[in-house]
Amino acid sequence: MTLEEAIEARRSRRKYLGTPIEPSASEKLRELAAEYNRAADLRIELVFNDGKAFNGFTKSYGMFSGVNDYVGLISDKNDLDNNERLGYYGELLMLHATAMGLGSCWVGGTFSRPLCPFELTGSESLVCALTIGNVAESLSLKERFVRNITHRKTKTVEEMFEADAPVPDCSGVCDNFPTHGHNLLLCPMLFHISKPCAAPKT
Ligand SMILES: Cc1cc2nc3c(=O)[nH]c(=O)nc-3n(C[C@H](O)[C@H](O)[C@H](O)COP(=O)(O)O)c2cc1C
Repeated sequence: MTLEEAIEARRSRRKYLGTPIEPSASEKLRELAAEYNRAADLRIELVFNDGKAFNGFTKSYGMFSGVNDYVGLISDKNDLDNNERLGYYGELLMLHATAMGLGSCWVGGTFSRPLCPFELTGSESLVCALTIGNVAESLSLKERFVRNITHRKTKTVEEMFEADAPVPDCSGVCDNFPTHGHNLLLCPMLFHISKPCAAPKT
């Protein structure tokens, strides 16, 4: 699966099988995270075989099960656009995971930060995590339910931003859609947590 196909195929997954990720896939994810950390001065860390921050009703408010592996996105408050870069590269990593056939989900609230193994300096915080893992082919009943309630179409894309310059048509694949995956960063509208191309409406 290409990254372009992964954009279409990706669905947030919350029920994991709990089986180990193939070593080739976990190694690839590690390599990508290391590459993004170097390229964008980030702290993206992978955790394998330790799901205690997610599992159990009180940790994930019942949202997640079977999580063993995840990615920590660690931000430094002294680095002003750190969160934005983490957003782009986190999504890129997620698309690679999708292309490898793995399930994933952005998680900013429904997990226990104190149970994560990261050592943070005084200016750092764990802004978000991405659960990653093997999943059943189809969504479980609960996953379908959550998907239905998170996918209410209350606003069109155009209603979510205003622009003082022409906005590129990113609704499908951009005309200048790059062939090199990393350049997906040039097309933020393609990402599901996209930062709009222009200033958000207030
Ligand atoms: C930054 C961010 C934080 C999120 N935090 C949570 C969370 O804590 N728990 C949760 O169940 N979903 C959370 N979500 C929502 C899901 O990751 C997902 O975006 C949503 O269910 C929509 O599904 P889709 O990704 O398949 O379109 C978060 C999403 C984003 C972008």
